[in-house]
Amino acid sequence: MPFDPTVLRKVMGLFATGVTIITTRDQSGNPYGLTANAVTSLSLSPPLLLICVDRKAETFPHFFDSKIFVLNILSQDQETLSRRFATTGGDKFSGVPWRPGALGTPILEETLGYIECRIVETLEGGDHVIHIGQVEEAESRDGRPLIFFRGKYRQLAGD
Ligand SMILES: Cc1cc2nc3c(=O)[nH]c(=O)nc-3n(C[C@H](O)[C@H](O)[C@H](O)COP(=O)(O)O)c2cc1C
Repeated sequence: MPFDPTVLRKVMGLFATGVTIITTRDQSGNPYGLTANAVTSLSLSPPLLLICVDRKAETFPHFFDSKIFVLNILSQDQETLSRRFATTGGDKFSGVPWRPGALGTPILEETLGYIECRIVETLEGGDHVIHIGQVEEAESRDGRPLIFFRGKYRQLAGD
């Protein structure tokens, strides 16, 4: 019997994470993005991180167009933005302030920080792929993170 994916989702939901929006662009420069928490730093030397992208996501093919992405780390005030980018369809970027990074990838404004990467390797991961990104540029600023735990958005309590 294959393992029940709903159990995996429930148990992994206990692993509290921050929330990011991963952005990329197509060859014409149009911006795309999706909310993601299956992301992690991978290596410091060389500086690498990885992201996991669902093959069914509309954004999926555009990572292969441009081979670049930005990991935008959301602040606790950006839950609405996270919900927007977690929903397929519509013009996700309408009214959302962003600027192009060094590689031309969309950097969202008012986040806690961002990391712009060039994709150096892509691995199979079941119904997802794993993109390994080489870090080209990164910046951080003060603020409090948006948290995802047990299927809900949360905020840090206390300091
Ligand atoms: C908190 C949270 C984390 C998510 N993490 C991921 C992820 O790591 N990878 C992924 O492919 N989708 C993830 N999703 C789902 C996508 O955001 C969702 O499928 C989105 O609609 C994809 O947008 P698109 O079809 O326009 O590309 C996550 C959703 C939420 C709410």
